[in-house]
Amino acid sequence: MAGIAPSHGILSAERQGERDELIDLLTQAYWMEIETVMSYIANSINPDGIRAQEIIESLETDIQEELGHAQLFGQRIKTLYGTVPGSKEFNAVQDFLQPPADQSDVVHVIKGVIAAETGAIGHYNRIIEFCGDKDPVTEDMVIGILRDEEGHLRLFEGFLKEYQAQGLA
Ligand SMILES: [Fe+2]
Ligand SMILES: [Fe+2]
Repeated sequence: MAGIAPSHGILSAERQGERDELIDLLTQAYWMEIETVMSYIANSINPDGIRAQEIIESLETDIQEELGHAQLFGQRIKTLYGTVPGSKEFNAVQDFLQPPADQSDVVHVIKGVIAAETGAIGHYNRIIEFCGDKDPVTEDMVIGILRDEEGHLRLFEGFLKEYQAQGLA
């Protein structure tokens, strides 16, 4: 068959090792998105006050986007012959997005969102770097997701800037 069968790229049998590494990275990304969905749901409901309304509306929109990202990561895991993990494998790590003691503490939420988005941007850049010339399809997908996260980060940095300008953060 040598010379006849076209290369199957990342799906080639001999590239199992690279696929496994990539699936681990994608699984971590999947869980990050799932935990972000949980955290953004809570933080789009809990906050009190007029100032909180903009944050609430913004997080409500983000929830749908992050859920879509989780689905994309899951679908890519499946395509790479992996299995999307079950809920019992989930480990929460977002200390920074736990509800604040005072529900009018909007700055706590803004900083938590910035931490979550910064973490996602770091991890997705690592995936893109790993993909290199190994897997352009995963790379392309993650670039699209990274674009969304950069937009989320920039928006919340803008919110924080406003609070800082008023001496509230
Ligand atoms: Fe996301
Ligand atoms: Fe995001």
